[in-house]
Amino acid sequence: MGEKHRVRFEPVGIEIEVDEEQTVLRSASEQGLMLMHGCKEGQCAACKSFVLDGDDIELDRYSTFALPDYEKEEGFTLLCRAHVYEDVTIELLNFDEEMIRSGLPIQNAVAEVVAINHVTHDLRHLVLRLIEPAEITFFPGQYMDIQVPGTDVTRSFSMASTNGRQLEFVIKVYPDGIFSSYLDTKLKVGDRLDLTGPFGVFTLRDAPDRDLIFIGGGAGLAPILALLRSMAERGIDRKAVFYYGARTAQDLCFVEEIEALRDKLPGFKFIPALSEPVEGADWAGETGFITDVLRRHGLDLKKAHAYLCGPPPMVEAAMPLLAQLGTPEKHIYYDKFTTTGGED
Ligand SMILES: Cc1cc2nc3c(=O)[nH]c(=O)nc-3n(C[C@H](O)[C@H](O)[C@H](O)COP(=O)(O)OP(=O)(O)OC[C@H]3O[C@@H](n4cnc5c(N)ncnc54)[C@H](O)[C@@H]3O)c2cc1C
Ligand code: FES
Repeated sequence: MGEKHRVRFEPVGIEIEVDEEQTVLRSASEQGLMLMHGCKEGQCAACKSFVLDGDDIELDRYSTFALPDYEKEEGFTLLCRAHVYEDVTIELLNFDEEMIRSGLPIQNAVAEVVAINHVTHDLRHLVLRLIEPAEITFFPGQYMDIQVPGTDVTRSFSMASTNGRQLEFVIKVYPDGIFSSYLDTKLKVGDRLDLTGPFGVFTLRDAPDRDLIFIGGGAGLAPILALLRSMAERGIDRKAVFYYGARTAQDLCFVEEIEALRDKLPGFKFIPALSEPVEGADWAGETGFITDVLRRHGLDLKKAHAYLCGPPPMVEAAMPLLAQLGTPEKHIYYDKFTTTGGED
């Protein structure tokens, strides 16, 4: 461990001590402070903040898409990459005060593989049972970092489950992906995995009078499924619609369960859509990119809270569209499933 320095966050007036060897975000997470973040790898910009006071800050490797050089020169920084070497004051640009203080401290855990099911040609449903500790507390919609066995590489995966003994994930397999190809070719029932978490701010905000719109693509289904399942468990009857995008009907999964949720969620509508429907196949549902379907429906979303999750291009296409349809920017919550391999 290195020397420690004070980091003060404005405008919330919270102070923490941060070890030089840890990033500001990591240290905050360990102290139960839930700052806005996504990839934790300097790629998504969700943790971008402004340095009000202090110069001695160094950044681990990051993408200049997330923090262009001119922004860095102006004083912006990425909390997930920033190490501080003196006391500093940081202005949070994107924050939710209620969230910040409701964070759960992250912990390390060991879990055993209970099942690995093929739910589509490239999506796997991974089920883990926690061994040590036997349970962890998390908010539905959060994610864990799972270590690739035999390496110090970790990858983030959102829980589709809602309670802390058995963790469920929906994971996309990339043929040469470090974690996902291990999952697909080597991992077996009974193996153990090391995890750290929970992380993430893709959690249901308490706003009973607001409608909900969920938009998910591919494995982005996972945290949305967690939110829907938890709404059903808690009897939350807010009006909700889930736009679920996939290429073909074979790329959709958990459809029966989602449709059945209508019995427990009276205000719930499910709209799956296919961007590449197979000609002549039996599909009576929507077609086109999920954002095109949403645009065609032309909903008035001024009073809605929106939750988006999936590959970055889908999230980036949906955000301006939701804003056009009236969703206030501060009520658009998202997780971009950025990938690590092969990025600068
Ligand atoms: C907050 C968050 C939550 C997430 N939740 C989920 C989830 O629930 N489910 C899910 O499936 N994913 C999720 N992800 C994405 C996940 O963390 C991984 O990034 C993803 O699964 C790929 O990991 P991998 O190790 O299998 O592939 P990687 O090894 O990271 O490779 C990813 C891609 O890069 C390519 N690549 C690798 N190396 C190179 C190279 N040298 N040059 C060019 N290309 C290369 C690979 O072919 C592949 O296409 C989430 C990400 C974030 C940030
Ligand atoms: S850039 Fe920091 S969390 Fe993604």
